[in-house]
Amino acid sequence: MPLSWVEIDLAALRHNYFQARERLASGTRVLAVVKSDAYGHGMVPVARELAAAGTEFLGVSKFWEALELRRQDIHLPLLVLLGVEPADMEEAIRKHVRPVVFRLDHARLLSQCACSLQRPAVIHVKIDTGMGRLGVPWERVPGFLDELLALPGLEIEGVLSHFAVADEADKTFSELQMERFQQVLQQFSNRGRPVRYAHISNSAGLLDLPVAHWQLVRPGLMLYGSPPSTMLERPAALLPVMSFKARILQIKDVQTGESIGYGRTYRVPRPSRIATIPVGYDDGYSRLLSNRGQVLVGGLRAPVVGRVSMNMITVDVSHVPDAQEDDEVVLLGTQGDARISAEEIGDLCGTISYEVYCSIGRHHFKVFNNASA
Ligand SMILES: Cc1ncc(COP(=O)(O)O)c(C=O)c1O
Repeated sequence: MPLSWVEIDLAALRHNYFQARERLASGTRVLAVVKSDAYGHGMVPVARELAAAGTEFLGVSKFWEALELRRQDIHLPLLVLLGVEPADMEEAIRKHVRPVVFRLDHARLLSQCACSLQRPAVIHVKIDTGMGRLGVPWERVPGFLDELLALPGLEIEGVLSHFAVADEADKTFSELQMERFQQVLQQFSNRGRPVRYAHISNSAGLLDLPVAHWQLVRPGLMLYGSPPSTMLERPAALLPVMSFKARILQIKDVQTGESIGYGRTYRVPRPSRIATIPVGYDDGYSRLLSNRGQVLVGGLRAPVVGRVSMNMITVDVSHVPDAQEDDEVVLLGTQGDARISAEEIGDLCGTISYEVYCSIGRHHFKVFNNASA
C-alpha cells in the first residue's frame, strides 16, 4: 500500500446517481459530467459504473478525455464541453464524439470534415444566457443561426446553456436565464429545426429547478456526494464517494515549549504526542490547512499542528492514547462516528468542495470499492 491513498466508493456513486434519476420525468436523460478525472474520482471507473447504472451521456471538458473513454471501450455518446480543436475534428466525427460548438469558424470546419467523411458531425450548440463565459451570446443567436443552419453535414442534436447561480436561494436570475434559453429554443423551432436535447441544469438546477430539466440534465458534483450549496430548497440525501487516507509514519513525545515544523509556528503548550503523517500540499492537502485542519485518528478528531509541508503534516494525538505508528488516518471521509467532509476542508481553505476533490484526487493511487460488476 502507498503512504497515502484515495478510496472511491462506487456504491455511493450509484446511490447519488439514483438520487438524481428519481427527480426526473421518465423521458429526461442524464449526462453525467466526468470531466477532470471525474472531479478527481477516476474518470474511467466512474464512467463505467455510471454507464452500468443507466446514464445516457457522459460529459468531458477536453477531447483527449473522450479519446481515453473510447480507448477503454466506453461507447456512450460523449459531449466535449470545451469543443474540439480543428486538428481533432475528423477523429471526433469518426469516434462519435459530440463537440460543443460556439464559434462559426469551428462550425464551418466541422461541416467540411463531415462532408469529406460523408458522415454527419453531431453537435450541441452552446448559448450564453447570462453565465458570461462560453457560448453564443443569446441576443446574437438569430445571426448565428442564419449561417449555422445553412452548413451541410451538421446534425444539431442539442442546445445547451449553463446556470450562473442556480445554487443560490434566490432563483430570479436563473429564471431569466431559462426565459432566454426558451426564446433561443423557439428560434430553432421557428426555423424548422426543433431541438432534440435542450439542457441547462447542473446539479443545482437538477435539484432545485424541476422546470429547468428539459430533455437532458448535466449533474456533476451531486454524483460525487456533495451538495452544490447549503441554500437549496430541495436537497438530496447524498453519500460521499471519496475518502483520503494515510498511515501514521512516526509518533514522538514532545516537551512543552518545543516547536513543530517550518517557521516554528506551533509551540507545544504541554507534553504532547505528535504524529507525522506522510501527506502534504503535493498530495492535495492545502498549505492553508496549517494549524487549522483536522484529521481522524482512532475515530477522534486530531488537529494539524504546525505548517503543512510538501509531503508531511504533523498532528497532535495526545488525546488518542491508543494511537500507534502505522495506524490509519482519515484526512477526508469517515472513521467511526466522525466525519471530515470536502465542504469542511473547502471552508477552511476559502474554496469549494469541487476544488478539494480535484486537488486530492489528482495525484493519488485509488482503490475502487463496491463496483457493481
Ligand atoms: C457545462 C457544465 N455543465 C455541467 C457541469 C456540472 O456542474 P455541477 O458539478 O455543479 O453539477 C459543469 C461543471 O462545472 C459544467 O461546466
